[in-house]
Amino acid sequence: MEYKKRILITGGAGFIGSHLVRSFVKKYPHYLIVNIDKLTYAGNLASLEDIKDEPNYHFRKVDICDGIKVSEIFEEFKIDHVIHCAAESHVDRSIINPLEFVQTNVVGTVVLLNICKNFWNQKESHLFYHISTDEVYGSLGESGKFLETTPYDPRSPYSSSKASSDHFVRAYHETFKLSTVISNCSNNYGPNQFPEKLIPLCIKNIIDKKPLPIYGKGDNIRDWLFVLDHVSAIDFIFHKGTTGETYNIGGDNEWRNIDLVRALCRIMDHRLNRKKGESEQLITFVKDRQGHDQRYSIDFTKLNKELGWKPNAKFEQGLEETVDWYLQNQKWVNDVISGEYANYYQVQYEGR
Ligand code: NAD
Ligand code: DAU
Repeated sequence: MEYKKRILITGGAGFIGSHLVRSFVKKYPHYLIVNIDKLTYAGNLASLEDIKDEPNYHFRKVDICDGIKVSEIFEEFKIDHVIHCAAESHVDRSIINPLEFVQTNVVGTVVLLNICKNFWNQKESHLFYHISTDEVYGSLGESGKFLETTPYDPRSPYSSSKASSDHFVRAYHETFKLSTVISNCSNNYGPNQFPEKLIPLCIKNIIDKKPLPIYGKGDNIRDWLFVLDHVSAIDFIFHKGTTGETYNIGGDNEWRNIDLVRALCRIMDHRLNRKKGESEQLITFVKDRQGHDQRYSIDFTKLNKELGWKPNAKFEQGLEETVDWYLQNQKWVNDVISGEYANYYQVQYEGR
């Protein structure tokens, strides 16, 4: 079959990547989708079981830092577009082991950019789409929103590594005329998220009647977006975005952590037929995250006005859908936490 685009998606076995891969494989049968993923603790092919035999889909276990293997993939599949999702993504882990974040998020991104530059030298139609985060902009006080023009001010090893990779993407656009686009998105939630992140961690702990660890006073604020809304924004930007540009993606949906966890407790009490207020008793305030960013808030007017995107999901509905998915997929959860996660959990939370 003559495919219209031959797209490499990196990190497609992770949370956002797996939803993106599924959406593109199903929606665009005339695109070839090649998913490469190192399958770290955060990558899980069980998330893609339903599409693994689709004719326009291929998976290869590859580390993006391995330039030889990535080049072989470019040769084999004649890749002409990249959507780069692979990353070490968890802020708390970046505080424990910053170098791992530099390796994958910075070095890995530059390895990919170099291969694209060399491979696409003569090619007119190509794109390197870099998936990034709102955390590159730093931390907000009570007011204000991040714009695409907000100066970078990353404060954690994770956000510093993502900021660095964003700069390299822009540098390859300016210096080598590579067609690139970047999007910076707020906090995602939904099915298949690794249970180290706030929402699935609390869902799992409520099921197990374990403490719900809230960092500091629980007054930090995040802007939450349903993962399929992020995927639809990526789709808009991939097809309609302007080369060299950056687009913010957000949910217009700010919550204090403590209020969000209380809302989750109410849904879980109902779903598990527990007494009203039972799950809230599990809330435990613990030592704050080092350098904990106070508030994120995204202004996505540019994406809305220029490309016509807006989020669809209603938050309460999205949360309920997420809770139901975790309740119905406890094997998925137990499988992903059966490896090194127990060790991480102990280092992160024991005696905190
Ligand atoms: P995730 O941790 O769930 O998945 C990351 C995936 O990358 C995993 O499948 C992992 O195996 C793979 N990976 C890690 N190192 C690799 C390497 N060296 N080579 C190949 N594959 C490797 O992450 P996520 O939450 O899905 O985030 C995906 C992207 O979106 C990241 O770039 C992240 O910075 C960005 N982002 C995430 C959020 C969020 O709320 N989760 C918000 C904005 C932006
Ligand atoms: O803003 C986008 C970013 O959102 C992404 O770039 C990151 O990849 C993603 O991990 C996420 O980062 P956060 O640090 O905001 O997400 P996390 O789920 O780890 O934490 C959300 C908030 O909840 C944050 O204020 C810290 C707090 N928290 C988190 C955990 C894991 C707790 O209070 N207790 C916890 O146990």
